[in-house]
Amino acid sequence: MPKKEIVTYPNPLLKKKSKQVTAFDNKLKQLVSDMAETMFAAPGSGLAAVQIGVLLRVVVMNMSKDENENKYLELINPVISEEEGTQVDEEGCLSVPEYFTKVKRAKKVKVHALDLNGNELKYEFEDWSARVIQHEVDHLNGKLFLDRISSLKRNLYKKRRKKELREQKEQKAG
Ligand code: NI
Repeated sequence: MPKKEIVTYPNPLLKKKSKQVTAFDNKLKQLVSDMAETMFAAPGSGLAAVQIGVLLRVVVMNMSKDENENKYLELINPVISEEEGTQVDEEGCLSVPEYFTKVKRAKKVKVHALDLNGNELKYEFEDWSARVIQHEVDHLNGKLFLDRISSLKRNLYKKRRKKELREQKEQKAG
């Protein structure tokens, strides 16, 4: 299970819409296992395939209760079919390094998804896990949590990120 490099903002790949999975083969199993490994290593709450450069509608969610556990759930072609209520909480993203801000999300969601064998499953998520799946489905649609905050906050982050990247480049060159 090799760990993959995470695609970070402002890589244009993160704005692309991912495609439906149609082949439930060993390649898909390998992708899910690589994604889980990458998520646990980060560590993160969830990961979408686009974040390791694969434009397929595949999500893994971290279901571990503590850091000694490596439990995850994979959702293939997930669709949020129902939303209920609202919650506002701090959110971050492995593709948006070192930035956390409050984001409004639905409190409860119902999700349809396929498993690794192509069987349809239904899930109900609430609070934290509802936030994670909404965040990951956004990734599949080319959206980041930065698209759900005020343009003022977004622009401040963009400036900061550009500066960070410039400094990293200078360090490498120097
Ligand atoms: Ni993310």
